[in-house]
Amino acid sequence: MEIIKLEGIEKIYRTADIETMALENVNISIDKGEFVSIMGPSGCGKSTLLNIIGLLDKPTKGHILLSGSDMTGQSDRTLSKFRNENLGFIFQSFHLIPSLNVMQNVALPLTYRSGERGAERQRQVKDVLERLGLGNRLHHFPSQLSGGQCQRVAIARAIVGNPEIILADEPTGNLDSHKGAEVMDLLHHLNRDEGRTIVMVTHNEEQARQTDRIIRFFDGRQVQ
Ligand SMILES: Nc1ncnc2c1ncn2[C@@H]1O[C@H](COP(=O)(O)OP(=O)(O)OP(=O)(O)O)[C@@H](O)[C@H]1O
Ligand SMILES: [Mg+2]
Repeated sequence: MEIIKLEGIEKIYRTADIETMALENVNISIDKGEFVSIMGPSGCGKSTLLNIIGLLDKPTKGHILLSGSDMTGQSDRTLSKFRNENLGFIFQSFHLIPSLNVMQNVALPLTYRSGERGAERQRQVKDVLERLGLGNRLHHFPSQLSGGQCQRVAIARAIVGNPEIILADEPTGNLDSHKGAEVMDLLHHLNRDEGRTIVMVTHNEEQARQTDRIIRFFDGRQVQ
Protein backbone atom coordinates (compact mmCIF):
# COMPACT_ATOMS: atom_id res chain seq x y z
CA MET A 1 0.00 0.00 0.00
CA GLU A 2 1.28 3.47 -0.91
CA ILE A 3 1.58 5.58 2.21
CA ILE A 4 3.43 8.52 0.60
CA LYS A 5 2.88 9.69 -2.97
CA LEU A 6 4.34 12.81 -4.55
CA GLU A 7 3.05 13.80 -7.98
CA GLY A 8 4.81 16.46 -10.06
CA ILE A 9 6.12 18.34 -7.03
CA GLU A 10 7.78 21.68 -7.70
CA LYS A 11 9.10 24.08 -5.09
CA ILE A 12 10.31 27.54 -5.96
CA TYR A 13 11.66 29.79 -3.22
CA ARG A 14 11.35 33.47 -3.97
CA THR A 15 13.33 36.10 -2.11
CA ALA A 16 13.67 39.79 -3.01
CA ASP A 17 16.36 39.29 -5.63
CA ILE A 18 16.45 35.60 -6.55
CA GLU A 19 14.28 32.64 -7.43
CA THR A 20 15.48 29.16 -6.53
CA MET A 21 14.00 26.07 -8.11
CA ALA A 22 14.53 23.80 -5.10
CA LEU A 23 12.50 20.88 -6.50
CA GLU A 24 11.44 20.21 -10.06
CA ASN A 25 8.88 17.60 -11.16
CA VAL A 26 9.50 15.16 -8.33
CA ASN A 27 7.49 11.93 -8.44
CA ILE A 28 7.93 9.45 -5.62
CA SER A 29 5.88 6.56 -4.25
CA ILE A 30 6.73 4.97 -0.94
CA ASP A 31 4.99 1.88 0.39
CA LYS A 32 3.90 1.37 3.96
CA GLY A 33 6.76 -0.24 5.90
CA GLU A 34 9.53 0.88 3.53
CA PHE A 35 12.79 2.44 4.77
CA VAL A 36 13.96 4.88 2.09
CA SER A 37 17.13 7.00 1.96
CA ILE A 38 17.37 10.36 0.21
CA MET A 39 20.86 11.31 -0.97
CA GLY A 40 22.46 14.11 -2.95
CA PRO A 41 24.85 17.06 -2.65
CA SER A 42 24.30 20.04 -0.36
CA GLY A 43 21.58 22.37 -1.63
CA CYS A 44 19.92 19.84 -3.95
CA GLY A 45 16.57 20.02 -2.14
CA LYS A 46 16.58 17.13 0.33
CA SER A 47 15.39 19.06 3.38
CA THR A 48 12.86 20.89 1.22
CA LEU A 49 11.50 17.52 0.12
CA LEU A 50 11.28 16.23 3.68
CA ASN A 51 9.51 19.41 4.83
CA ILE A 52 6.99 19.02 2.04
CA ILE A 53 6.34 15.34 2.84
CA GLY A 54 6.04 16.39 6.50
CA LEU A 55 3.47 19.11 5.70
CA LEU A 56 5.74 21.77 7.19
CA ASP A 57 6.00 23.51 3.83
CA LYS A 58 3.82 23.62 0.72
CA PRO A 59 4.89 22.89 -2.86
CA THR A 60 4.37 25.54 -5.53
CA LYS A 61 3.03 22.82 -7.86
CA GLY A 62 1.98 19.19 -7.62
CA HIS A 63 0.17 16.95 -5.20
CA ILE A 64 1.10 15.15 -2.04
CA LEU A 65 -0.94 12.17 -0.89
CA LEU A 66 -0.46 10.65 2.54
CA SER A 67 -2.28 7.38 3.28
CA GLY A 68 -4.29 8.05 0.13
CA SER A 69 -5.56 11.52 1.13
CA ASP A 70 -4.62 14.49 -1.00
CA MET A 71 -3.09 17.07 1.34
CA THR A 72 -2.92 19.81 -1.28
CA GLY A 73 -5.29 22.64 -0.51
CA GLN A 74 -6.20 21.40 2.99
CA SER A 75 -6.51 24.00 5.74
CA ASP A 76 -3.54 24.61 8.05
CA ARG A 77 -5.61 23.25 10.90
CA THR A 78 -6.26 19.95 9.10
CA LEU A 79 -2.58 19.70 8.15
CA SER A 80 -1.42 20.32 11.74
CA LYS A 81 -3.77 17.69 13.07
CA PHE A 82 -2.65 15.14 10.49
CA ARG A 83 1.00 15.97 11.14
CA ASN A 84 0.60 15.66 14.89
CA GLU A 85 -1.09 12.26 14.68
CA ASN A 86 0.75 10.58 11.83
CA LEU A 87 4.22 12.08 11.39
CA GLY A 88 7.33 12.05 13.56
CA PHE A 89 10.32 14.31 12.81
CA ILE A 90 13.97 13.87 13.65
CA PHE A 91 16.24 16.80 12.76
CA GLN A 92 20.01 16.93 12.49
CA SER A 93 20.22 19.68 15.10
CA PHE A 94 17.75 18.02 17.49
CA HIS A 95 15.42 21.06 17.84
CA LEU A 96 14.87 20.46 21.55
CA ILE A 97 13.44 23.30 23.61
CA PRO A 98 16.17 24.45 26.05
CA SER A 99 13.79 25.64 28.77
CA LEU A 100 11.93 22.31 28.97
CA ASN A 101 13.32 19.19 30.62
CA VAL A 102 13.59 15.81 28.89
CA MET A 103 10.09 14.63 29.83
CA GLN A 104 8.50 17.94 28.87
CA ASN A 105 10.25 17.96 25.50
CA VAL A 106 9.12 14.43 24.72
CA ALA A 107 5.55 15.13 25.90
CA LEU A 108 5.14 18.06 23.49
CA PRO A 109 3.48 16.19 20.59
CA LEU A 110 0.99 14.66 23.02
CA THR A 111 -0.08 17.95 24.57
CA TYR A 112 -1.77 18.93 21.31
CA ARG A 113 -3.90 15.80 21.40
CA SER A 114 -7.30 15.67 22.90
CA GLY A 115 -8.75 12.80 24.84
CA GLU A 116 -5.64 11.51 26.59
CA ARG A 117 -5.33 12.14 30.30
CA GLY A 118 -2.27 13.61 31.95
CA ALA A 119 -1.26 10.50 33.86
CA GLU A 120 -1.53 8.33 30.75
CA ARG A 121 0.65 10.79 28.84
CA GLN A 122 3.28 10.80 31.57
CA ARG A 123 3.40 7.00 31.45
CA GLN A 124 3.79 6.97 27.65
CA VAL A 125 6.60 9.51 27.86
CA LYS A 126 8.42 7.58 30.57
CA ASP A 127 8.04 4.28 28.70
CA VAL A 128 9.57 5.58 25.52
CA LEU A 129 12.44 7.29 27.36
CA GLU A 130 13.20 4.12 29.27
CA ARG A 131 13.24 2.13 26.03
CA LEU A 132 15.81 4.58 24.70
CA GLY A 133 18.01 4.24 27.77
CA LEU A 134 17.17 7.67 29.16
CA GLY A 135 15.23 6.56 32.22
CA ASN A 136 17.82 8.25 34.45
CA ARG A 137 17.72 11.57 32.60
CA LEU A 138 14.00 12.42 32.84
CA HIS A 139 14.47 15.76 34.59
CA HIS A 140 17.66 16.90 32.91
CA PHE A 141 17.61 19.89 30.57
CA PRO A 142 19.02 19.66 27.02
CA SER A 143 22.13 21.66 28.03
CA GLN A 144 22.92 18.93 30.57
CA LEU A 145 22.95 16.13 27.98
CA SER A 146 25.49 14.81 25.49
CA GLY A 147 24.82 15.08 21.74
CA GLY A 148 23.90 11.40 21.52
CA GLN A 149 21.51 11.75 24.44
CA CYS A 150 19.91 14.84 22.86
CA GLN A 151 19.35 12.89 19.65
CA ARG A 152 17.73 10.05 21.59
CA VAL A 153 15.42 12.56 23.30
CA ALA A 154 14.55 13.92 19.86
CA ILE A 155 13.82 10.39 18.66
CA ALA A 156 11.69 9.74 21.74
CA ARG A 157 9.71 12.87 20.91
CA ALA A 158 9.32 11.73 17.29
CA ILE A 159 7.95 8.31 18.22
CA VAL A 160 6.03 8.94 21.45
CA GLY A 161 2.73 9.41 19.62
CA ASN A 162 3.22 6.21 17.54
CA PRO A 163 3.33 7.94 14.15
CA GLU A 164 3.04 5.78 11.03
CA ILE A 165 5.70 7.79 9.23
CA ILE A 166 9.10 8.91 10.57
CA LEU A 167 10.99 11.63 8.68
CA ALA A 168 14.65 11.96 9.62
CA ASP A 169 16.90 14.72 8.25
CA GLU A 170 20.53 13.60 8.72
CA PRO A 171 19.69 12.03 12.09
CA THR A 172 23.31 11.04 12.73
CA GLY A 173 24.92 14.15 11.22
CA ASN A 174 25.98 15.56 14.58
CA LEU A 175 27.00 12.29 16.23
CA ASP A 176 30.24 10.30 16.32
CA SER A 177 30.21 7.00 14.45
CA HIS A 178 29.44 4.91 17.53
CA LYS A 179 26.45 7.04 18.62
CA GLY A 180 25.39 7.27 14.99
CA ALA A 181 25.34 3.48 14.72
CA GLU A 182 23.12 3.30 17.81
CA VAL A 183 20.64 5.70 16.26
CA MET A 184 20.65 3.65 13.03
CA ASP A 185 19.98 0.44 15.01
CA LEU A 186 17.04 2.16 16.62
CA LEU A 187 15.63 3.31 13.28
CA HIS A 188 16.01 -0.21 11.86
CA HIS A 189 14.19 -1.60 14.88
CA LEU A 190 11.32 0.89 14.44
CA ASN A 191 11.10 -0.11 10.79
CA ARG A 192 11.57 -3.87 11.02
CA ASP A 193 9.83 -4.69 14.29
CA GLU A 194 7.21 -1.97 14.49
CA GLY A 195 6.46 -1.51 10.80
CA ARG A 196 7.10 2.23 10.72
CA THR A 197 7.69 3.81 7.35
CA ILE A 198 10.93 5.84 7.41
CA VAL A 199 12.29 8.45 5.02
CA MET A 200 15.84 9.46 5.95
CA VAL A 201 18.11 12.08 4.42
CA THR A 202 21.74 11.04 4.74
CA HIS A 203 25.20 11.82 3.35
CA ASN A 204 26.43 8.41 4.52
CA GLU A 205 26.56 5.79 1.73
CA GLU A 206 27.01 2.93 4.15
CA GLN A 207 23.90 3.89 6.13
CA ALA A 208 21.94 4.34 2.92
CA ARG A 209 22.94 0.90 1.64
CA GLN A 210 21.32 -0.67 4.71
CA THR A 211 17.91 0.75 3.76
CA ASP A 212 15.40 -0.71 1.28
CA ARG A 213 15.94 1.92 -1.41
CA ILE A 214 18.01 5.01 -2.20
CA ILE A 215 16.51 7.97 -4.06
CA ARG A 216 19.21 10.29 -5.39
CA PHE A 217 18.79 13.98 -6.10
CA PHE A 218 20.83 16.50 -8.03
CA ASP A 219 19.86 20.16 -8.36
CA GLY A 220 16.24 19.63 -7.34
CA ARG A 221 15.71 16.64 -9.59
CA GLN A 222 15.52 12.94 -8.97
CA VAL A 223 18.37 11.30 -10.82
CA GLN A 224 17.88 7.71 -9.79
N1 LIG B 1 13.46 29.31 3.02
C1 LIG B 1 14.19 29.40 1.91
N2 LIG B 1 14.21 30.53 1.16
C2 LIG B 1 14.94 30.62 0.03
N3 LIG B 1 15.70 29.63 -0.47
C3 LIG B 1 15.74 28.47 0.23
C4 LIG B 1 15.00 28.30 1.46
N4 LIG B 1 15.23 27.04 1.92
C5 LIG B 1 16.07 26.46 1.04
N5 LIG B 1 16.38 27.30 0.02
C6 LIG B 1 17.25 26.99 -1.14
O1 LIG B 1 16.71 25.82 -1.75
C7 LIG B 1 17.76 24.93 -2.14
C8 LIG B 1 17.53 23.56 -1.50
O2 LIG B 1 17.75 23.68 -0.10
P1 LIG B 1 17.66 22.42 0.90
O3 LIG B 1 17.78 22.94 2.28
O4 LIG B 1 16.45 21.63 0.57
O5 LIG B 1 18.98 21.59 0.49
P2 LIG B 1 19.57 20.24 1.09
O6 LIG B 1 19.65 19.25 -0.03
O7 LIG B 1 18.80 19.84 2.31
O8 LIG B 1 21.07 20.65 1.49
P3 LIG B 1 22.00 20.17 2.72
O9 LIG B 1 22.55 18.82 2.35
O10 LIG B 1 23.09 21.22 2.75
O11 LIG B 1 21.17 20.16 3.98
C9 LIG B 1 19.06 25.60 -1.75
O12 LIG B 1 19.59 26.22 -2.89
C10 LIG B 1 18.65 26.64 -0.72
O13 LIG B 1 19.49 27.77 -0.75
MG1 LIG C 1 19.28 19.74 4.34
